[in-house]
Amino acid sequence: DEPYVFITRRMPEDIKARLEASCRVSMWEYEDIPVSKGRLEEEIKHADALFCNVSDNIDNEMLNKAEHLKVIATMAVGYNNIDIQTAADKGIQVAHTPDVLTETTADLTFALLMASARRIAEGIDVIRNNEWGAWAPFFLTGRDIHHARIGIIGMGRIGEAVARRASGFNMDIVYHNRSPKPDVEESLGASYAGMDELLTTSDFVCVQTPYTKETHHLIDGNALQKMKKNAVLINTSRGAVVDETALYEALQAGEIRAAGLDVFEKEPIGADHPLLTLPNVTALPHIGSASEDTRQKMAEMTADHILEGLRGDTVSNKVV
Ligand code: GLV
Ligand code: GLV
Repeated sequence: DEPYVFITRRMPEDIKARLEASCRVSMWEYEDIPVSKGRLEEEIKHADALFCNVSDNIDNEMLNKAEHLKVIATMAVGYNNIDIQTAADKGIQVAHTPDVLTETTADLTFALLMASARRIAEGIDVIRNNEWGAWAPFFLTGRDIHHARIGIIGMGRIGEAVARRASGFNMDIVYHNRSPKPDVEESLGASYAGMDELLTTSDFVCVQTPYTKETHHLIDGNALQKMKKNAVLINTSRGAVVDETALYEALQAGEIRAAGLDVFEKEPIGADHPLLTLPNVTALPHIGSASEDTRQKMAEMTADHILEGLRGDTVSNKVV
């Protein structure tokens, strides 16, 4: 019997076909609506493999419904939505998609950094709202990026790619990471900093760390208070690394200058989210890796991980 694969979101035909060559495949019908919990519970019970994404909550309770599951492949680098301990205990391999999205995500991080510093979203609104009166000397003045200090929290693959971009802007690069990265220090002139030093001296604070118990609300009220009044916070990792209530208060009180956010504690957010009432917030709907080429490659990799796992091979980008 051919193994059974469930895909939790509608994917292009070529991705489905890649699996159908050797598997029975079913797929959630919608591209823009997450699979319902009920359907996922039903499918995971029978599936040999699961093709999922960041919006699926694959927790202990969900995993315990699985009777034949051998592999979970997520179309993402972050896998905080999957209970990897339970997966490991049940002998289920979990694969993710690092590397392929590194440069694309770093591009978006830099786009958000530049947009926040130079008030791009506000500028677009001014024209769209027909409010562009005349050139004015201090109209929409932002803050400089070149030669400013960037503090990168989490010097993994994406952090390093952000640092390479910062280096092209002649930025002064400091970073915080569990372990120092002498190669990055040498190639990009970055310096290691303790959290306090990074927070108190950086003009841009970029969060590039995975979301774990240890990084939950890493940027809390206390951290925000340490930041410079003119500092900009950028988060393209996971929303819950930042305490959003504390961030709202800090922005409101002028404790920091601005924030650029691609991720939120509870996604999706709507127009009624408190942070969106602030003009100094630039918000994007979790599109860090969203280039056509990268998303296509991520989907192909995810399908290939499933084929590897079903063959009984060790998946090539193994989490557990
Ligand atoms: C997206 O957020 C990812 O983890 O790839
Ligand atoms: C983290 O997701 C990284 O690869 O830097």
